Amino acid sequence: MSTTIPQIRSDARSFQLRVFGCQMNFYDGELMRASLMARGYTEVASSDQADVVLFHTCSVREGAEERVHGLLGELRRAKRERPDLVIGVIGCMADREGRELFDREPHVDIVCGSRHFPQLDSFIDRVMGGEERVCELGEAHSAVDLPVRDLSGRPAHWSAHVAVMRGCDLNCTYCIVPSVRGRVESRPLVEIVDEVKRLVDQGVTEVHLLGQTVDSYGRDLPSGERPSLARLLDELAAIDDLMRLRMITLHPSYIDADLANAMARSPQFMRFLPVPLQAGSDRVLKLMKRGYNTSLYRKRIDLLRDRMPDLELISDWIVGFPGETSEDYLESERMLCEIGFLQSYVFQYSPRPGTRAYEIQDNVPAEIKKERNNRLLALQRKVAYAKSPGLVGQTTSTMLEQGAKRHGGHWSGRTTTGHPVVVPDQPGYDAGMQLAIELVEHDGRSLIGKALGEPRRGQPHTRIAPPETVVPEAPTGFTV
Ligand code: SAH
Ligand code: SF4
Ligand code: F3S
Repeated sequence: MSTTIPQIRSDARSFQLRVFGCQMNFYDGELMRASLMARGYTEVASSDQADVVLFHTCSVREGAEERVHGLLGELRRAKRERPDLVIGVIGCMADREGRELFDREPHVDIVCGSRHFPQLDSFIDRVMGGEERVCELGEAHSAVDLPVRDLSGRPAHWSAHVAVMRGCDLNCTYCIVPSVRGRVESRPLVEIVDEVKRLVDQGVTEVHLLGQTVDSYGRDLPSGERPSLARLLDELAAIDDLMRLRMITLHPSYIDADLANAMARSPQFMRFLPVPLQAGSDRVLKLMKRGYNTSLYRKRIDLLRDRMPDLELISDWIVGFPGETSEDYLESERMLCEIGFLQSYVFQYSPRPGTRAYEIQDNVPAEIKKERNNRLLALQRKVAYAKSPGLVGQTTSTMLEQGAKRHGGHWSGRTTTGHPVVVPDQPGYDAGMQLAIELVEHDGRSLIGKALGEPRRGQPHTRIAPPETVVPEAPTGFTV
């Protein structure tokens, strides 16, 4: 994709960028990639060919950090043989470990915190210019999301991420994010709307609005003209060629009637929403300091489903939180079934130094964490597979996303409520197009759709009626 930023370098340099962690990290990776390429760098797949090796890192669990330390270890020899090789660690691990990262990994040249990556190319220049080490951490002088942005580094031409806020003002006891990402910083509404318009002009049909707690958007801005996620959805509704809008991730505490109403009237909002519950036991939720119990969570979901009966939900879960008994764990299974989540991400608790939960003994053995992880995922699959067949016979629409893996000659996509669907390919079909379909069959895993006309841009969604489904009951009476 072309860019309007002039190339300022004539000598070709190459970089390798490896990204770990959440969608926000991948988004920031896209911005870094575009900025380096605009300055004449080429991206290469292997560190052997790279002049600059960059790791955009995550600290949320110990495993994510250890993976990067492992990869850094593998680069020691390369740095000895090629002292000009520049190695940079960017993002949450840089924020968490700070200068100490140089002690453990002396061959690293750049440690760049999450709010400083827009200056990354100047840090590389400084190291190439002879500076021994560059370390930039903490608050930045200017907003991370500068008004002029180049998202040509995104992987799909039709789908893009857009950050609406960064940071987190909550304090879940297990979580490192607030300490590495800092306090909430929302972007001005006009800036986000402009960015989305620009992307749509470039052919983007789907946008994911990103934020650590995306529904808290605007609460940190001055009260007079304070925007909200609800207002943002209303503004984006006017962009005709934007067909699908997703949001990642909501915190139950910020869900209110205004937001539920705005989602319900948005023609683009995909009714497939991540509202992580984390645990089904009120005792564990309290230890996690999530700020809600299961009854408050139910109320928020009831509010959303009252306005959008077809809404499907996604949850994150932590299993093996310190002190989680098998009865506590079973409450997670019960809540998964009761709410009827369509998708779950399950994580084994990982103690993070500096968090409050770190002070509580991590007393659930690793095998039990693993067992609970596998069980919860297996249950999630059962719940999801029980839901989709009820949709057969309905009319809906889907975005053509990619070639279906299990069905040759088919596209895979999702219904407007997130159910996986495959549709036979036809001449003229392309990724990012929206297609009205009838759901004609369910093969045990996916729905099969039949096209009802030509794919087109700007087509309003056909909403599906809420499914008549039988969600399996959580098994009871066993110990894990
Ligand atoms: N802001 C989001 C989550 C961001 S972190 C929210 O509040 O829901 C992404 C996920 O990582 C969390 O939802 C949680 O399930 C998981 N996670 C965070 N800290 C963890 C830890 N110490 N151990 C295991 N999983 C963790
Ligand atoms: Fe972490 Fe909680 Fe903030 Fe999510 S809401 S980022 S889990 S502190
Ligand atoms: Fe990881 Fe940082 Fe995202 S810790 S989950 S990359 S905010």
